[in-house]
Amino acid sequence: MAEQAAPIRVGVIGALGRMGATVVSAVQEQPDLQLVAQIDQGDDLSALLDSKAQVIVDFTTPDVVMPTLKFAIENGIHCVIGTTGFDAERLRELTQWCAKSPSTGVLVAPNFGIAAILMMKMAQMAAPHFESVEIVELHHPKKVDAPSGTAIRTAEMIGLARHDVEMPDATVDAHDGARGARVAGIPIHSLRISGLVAHQEVIFGGEGETLTIRHDSLSRESFMPGVVLGIREVGKHPGLTVGLDTFLGL
Ligand SMILES: NC(=O)c1ccc[n+]([C@@H]2O[C@H](COP(=O)([O-])OP(=O)(O)OC[C@H]3O[C@@H](n4cnc5c(N)ncnc54)[C@H](O)[C@@H]3O)[C@@H](O)[C@H]2O)c1
Repeated sequence: MAEQAAPIRVGVIGALGRMGATVVSAVQEQPDLQLVAQIDQGDDLSALLDSKAQVIVDFTTPDVVMPTLKFAIENGIHCVIGTTGFDAERLRELTQWCAKSPSTGVLVAPNFGIAAILMMKMAQMAAPHFESVEIVELHHPKKVDAPSGTAIRTAEMIGLARHDVEMPDATVDAHDGARGARVAGIPIHSLRISGLVAHQEVIFGGEGETLTIRHDSLSRESFMPGVVLGIREVGKHPGLTVGLDTFLGL
């Protein structure tokens, strides 16, 4: 009989949070994964070494995630990062840390929802064909950052796919914020509404027609197939990977 591979040893950072607790349950349900550490605010990261964690999953906050990543990379622990707030400067810093630990894999994914990733890809595909595009992102009111990481990434992907397309907009007189926040030249409008989880519309417009691509995340469980895939794959992809798309073969 073929010998079964040992389960991947997983530590969850932010384990008491909304996403972290959902990850804890998802890891416990997978026979090929073993939950070996649950860390939240005030806990010592050395528990990752004591428990011989091979992969961490981090859903915390943008202000605490970097020291955790530095610790994990320095100790050769692969990282699956859902925490948002990774700008170009942070990604540069991560790349430098990864260079010093070349066999360690780090995945930073602004969105683990497979439908959300497809939404971003489809938006990128549509981008060169329409003169107008704006993004509306809608989330629960406990979200601390705006625009969402997904909206920022979508705008960046659209920006890369449309070169020098002039967007028609005659606005000369606007109240503060009325035209949204600009990322890659694309307005993003952020709504925070009780009862919602995570939603986004990308609205394109051209001559006499519009195209709306909408994604709705109805529960935090929607992110778990992507997180589990990330845990399984991250060790096979040394260095920094941004976005789950490559692991999905997109
Ligand atoms: N990538 C995605 O698909 C995705 C999906 C949903 C949310 N998010 C992001 O995930 C992050 C967490 O979201 P949430 O809704 O679970 O937030 P949350 O506030 O419910 O959870 C954050 C947890 O981190 C803990 N924490 C704070 N400082 C810590 C530290 N130094 N060490 C360890 N733990 C610490 C908090 O105590 C809390 O339990 C946010 O950045 C959010 O934008 C990403």
